[in-house]
Amino acid sequence: MDYEVFKARVRDLIQLDLSSYKQQQMKRRILQWIARHDLNDFAGLFDKLKTDSSHRREFIDYLTINTSHFFRDHSVFDFLTTKILPSIAGNRARIWSAGCSIGAEPYSIAILMLENKLPFAEILASDIDEDSLKKAKAGIYYPNQVSQVPPNLLERYFTTTNEQYCLKDIVKRQVRFSRHNLLTDKYEQGFDLILCRNVFIYFTSEIQSRLIKQFVNSLKPNGYFVVGSAELIINPNLFGLERVSYCIYQKC
Ligand SMILES: C[S@@+](CC[C@H](N)C(=O)[O-])C[C@H]1O[C@@H](n2cnc3c(N)ncnc32)[C@H](O)[C@@H]1O
Repeated sequence: MDYEVFKARVRDLIQLDLSSYKQQQMKRRILQWIARHDLNDFAGLFDKLKTDSSHRREFIDYLTINTSHFFRDHSVFDFLTTKILPSIAGNRARIWSAGCSIGAEPYSIAILMLENKLPFAEILASDIDEDSLKKAKAGIYYPNQVSQVPPNLLERYFTTTNEQYCLKDIVKRQVRFSRHNLLTDKYEQGFDLILCRNVFIYFTSEIQSRLIKQFVNSLKPNGYFVVGSAELIINPNLFGLERVSYCIYQKC
């Protein structure tokens, strides 16, 4: 079985369209997986995926790369705290963390909203990966995932047990988690702020453009769009965006 056939079969089996992701990077990662699990080739891997549901889950988990931590990229959170969150607060503000992984990103926003007593209507957090969403809802983190949380916030919003940090309910109940595939599912509308950070980097440039258009369409007029530091949008005006800082854009 060659890679093209494998991709088509995987799309039918697990609804993950591998051709939307950068080919070289994706193929290399899959070959590493095949070697690690002694599966010989694409056909061997496909047979395993067909018959072993836990292998299937681990494979999706591995491919979608879900490392994350609280307050990832301080300059973004500083700008959000001083400029954006106060300006969108009130007025039934809606925020979407797309590709939220283990929930560290939407929970960081929720902590800032609570800490600064900023009212909002909802924080939606979505991801394609069920295991990540399960971890996000549990809200239990390792020390390295909370190492960027300022000590006073760590003390106020987490409890500790067995070297792990448990997020308090007051933060957990601010976020609505939902499984959502950015490539195929419908996008909700009417957001004041959308964060989609460290997700684009794995997609081809055509797919990146399509997704940016869909995100812009989901923003209210003057809404903000935040990408990862390695995902800067080269021609923001082509998408009806204006760059307001570093990797933060505003709908014109
Ligand atoms: C590296 S994490 C980024 C987490 C967080 N945004 C951050 O910056 O810390 C990338 C996330 O994108 C998710 N992802 C990959 N492909 C996706 C897709 N097609 N639809 C939705 N989420 C996807 C992965 O499951 C993973 O949790």
